Amino acid sequence: MTTMKIYKVTDYDALSKRAASMLAAQIIGKPDAVLGLATGSTPTGTYQYLRTWQREGILDFSGIRTVNLDEYRGIARTNAQSYYAFMRENLFDHVNIKEENTYIPNGEEADGDKVCREYEALIRRLGGVDLQLLGIGQNGHIGFNEPAESFAEACHCVDLARSTIEANQRFFERAEDVPRQAYTMGIGTIMRAKKILLLASGREKAKALYQAVCGPISPKLPASVLRLHPDVTILADEECCAGMEF
Ligand code: GLP
Repeated sequence: MTTMKIYKVTDYDALSKRAASMLAAQIIGKPDAVLGLATGSTPTGTYQYLRTWQREGILDFSGIRTVNLDEYRGIARTNAQSYYAFMRENLFDHVNIKEENTYIPNGEEADGDKVCREYEALIRRLGGVDLQLLGIGQNGHIGFNEPAESFAEACHCVDLARSTIEANQRFFERAEDVPRQAYTMGIGTIMRAKKILLLASGREKAKALYQAVCGPISPKLPASVLRLHPDVTILADEECCAGMEF
């Protein structure tokens, strides 16, 4: 039995607007909320709506705190492909959030134990994540939690799966430029969020979404663990729901 709510929306724009509405409700309902944020191509439309609504005076980010899911290891913040740069470009530079209230694992720090220990402590100090936004990888990964033998409890350094490196290659000039490792919140970190919102768009995610919702709960398909969380909403567009009866 799962309490997961799954909404099928027509297309990417409808998905983005609905996701932004849920984040907006969180921001209005708790002006000092801690938002867990995600990168990748899926949430860019959501961030676009949030930017517009802030410009129109509907949203105020001045008290909001954010913690990002993950960051490549060994990448400079100035690198356009860092998740630091992604967040600036897609959201932070365009809304009235305070820079000191935005947190992303430090990909420039080589000491992985230090980065992960401090990041986990930071999330606890902030009082935990109120609403965690997630995408899903083609292999069912969430954050950078790749298919594994067990669920990682806390932030950790991961070796990226070959399929993830290939999927993310489209953002880099050359295949060898894609980082091979990343720092990521653990499955436990994600599961401690009070609410979770997962976005899935396009047919290349259909299999992963189907397995997450209907397959066995297993670390081999990390997103499947979300069925054990008491407050998860999934927004999926029609292309991604192909072949599924919901
Ligand atoms: C990356 C990120 C994930 C993201 C996934 C899917 O690997 N670490 O957080 O969900 O890619 O990305 P996209 O939305 O571009 O398909």
